[in-house]
Amino acid sequence: MSSRTELTAWQTLQAHASEMSKRHMSDLFDEDDLRFAKFSLQAPNILLDYSKNLITEDTRTKLLDLAEACEVESFRDKMFAGEKINRTEDRSVLHVALRDQSDEPLEIDGEDVRAQVKHEMERIKSLVAQVRSGDWHGYTGKEMTDIVSIGIGGSNLGPLMVTEALSAYSDGRLNVHYVSNVDGFQIADTLRDLDPETTLFVIASKTFTTLETMTNARSAEAWFLDKAKDKSFINRHFIAVSSNREKATEFGVAEENIFDMWDWVGGRFSLWSAIGLPIALNLGFDIFAELLEGALEMDKHFRTAPMAKNAPVMLALMGVWNNNFLGRKAHALLPYDQCLHRLPAYMQQAEMESNGKSVNWSGERIDYSSVPLIWGEVGINGQHAFYQCLHQGTQIVPADFIGSVEPSLAVKGHHDALMANFFAQSEAMMRGINADQVREELTAKGMSPERIEEVVPHKVHEGNRPTNTILMQKVNARSLGSLIALYEHKIFVQGIIWEVHSFDQWGVELGKVLAKGIQDELAPDAEIDAKHDASTRNLIEYYKKARP
Ligand code: F6P
Repeated sequence: MSSRTELTAWQTLQAHASEMSKRHMSDLFDEDDLRFAKFSLQAPNILLDYSKNLITEDTRTKLLDLAEACEVESFRDKMFAGEKINRTEDRSVLHVALRDQSDEPLEIDGEDVRAQVKHEMERIKSLVAQVRSGDWHGYTGKEMTDIVSIGIGGSNLGPLMVTEALSAYSDGRLNVHYVSNVDGFQIADTLRDLDPETTLFVIASKTFTTLETMTNARSAEAWFLDKAKDKSFINRHFIAVSSNREKATEFGVAEENIFDMWDWVGGRFSLWSAIGLPIALNLGFDIFAELLEGALEMDKHFRTAPMAKNAPVMLALMGVWNNNFLGRKAHALLPYDQCLHRLPAYMQQAEMESNGKSVNWSGERIDYSSVPLIWGEVGINGQHAFYQCLHQGTQIVPADFIGSVEPSLAVKGHHDALMANFFAQSEAMMRGINADQVREELTAKGMSPERIEEVVPHKVHEGNRPTNTILMQKVNARSLGSLIALYEHKIFVQGIIWEVHSFDQWGVELGKVLAKGIQDELAPDAEIDAKHDASTRNLIEYYKKARP
């Protein structure tokens, strides 16, 4: 099998990793005063410091050789040019076109992508203006007060994450709620205090067939009609965002209320499209446009910056180094801004649905790891929960620390307290504290030598735990756009290096198909398929018997 592992660049890195594994980052810092200058870079709206990785300049050169051997630049250019690099679905990958209002020609299957995007953006702008100004009236003539966005996965996580991240900039004109779970609790809980006369639903589903979304949409419709009575009123209260106009129309959404998506936008990369409508409704179109501009700035950087100065490329390469050469199988995302609390969940889908694959472009099983487990939580809360394991656990988990110079909502005395922790944690992960230092510290506190020897092994932090630090001036629409695009391109670069198809998601299909069959079997008189394994069959039987 021809594999990435057969590349000279890969093998060179493997040999280099066994040498580097003997080094400690603390020594690398002590040996080189210029380490920060060498291993940090300024990208649009973002400072990336990757110096706290177990690397030298030689490591970087070797990683860049790998990127070159994998033709990262050429694939990047193919993506921007609209080539059908999503080969398993025979599609282009053009979420980048959603934030590019330029006139650079871009045609896919004879369609002018730029014109399509501009047209849809104008429609978003106009709807947002109508709803926010109060010109959009409900069936009893009232203004809208609440938006309920129904969607799941890529049709939910992005808009939800951004809405939360930018809540400091909301004028409160409209309340935006998100419903994703098919557990009736979420929609019941959301609708409990809302008024059908002043509620606008956005049904966000690229396919318009997703079971969770369709079930919630039907329940929303029933709730609405329970009061409104007349189906013709639906056109004042239901908007759809989909690439499946037929299904959206069948559902009952008026043609003029359907916003288009295209098959060249993957769900998890779609917040820049009309899937982002709730963001624009909440914050106004101008702030939404600024988010797109921030992403565009990062796109330009990704397209033009030399590889060694290219933030997405270097972030991706640090991930590849830690995962494939140092054997780190998990990666934590630790935002310190409270407003970024949904970022880890959003990135989990973006990274793991994209690169959680086991076969290469030719369908052969890969003999190296693809995406590590991506997880995380607001950093400062994590410190009092799982950081113990980050500092002293047997697994080394590289982490991204994400923070900002200014808070988006300032309260006197808070931000420096937050940022002191932000800086301290990655320093602690890198340097650690050795037995001699612990001894010295405890001796100074007057502890007896016997007690000190008992305690020392428990207090040692080995350090040498890699982190990246991403610092923004402030979380705002522009910097957030840049941050998200930074990670989108990191995912792209890693997908190329791992030679996996980053833009399909066949791995979510099997469970969906099985769930459909099981849902039928859950009907009171339905037979349970004997083909189920004993565990599944018995669990279903138990559930049906125990169900009231
Ligand atoms: O669960 C897989 C998935 O297809 C995601 O990729 C997608 O974001 C989500 O479901 C929602 O799909 P849709 O927008 O078609 O409802």
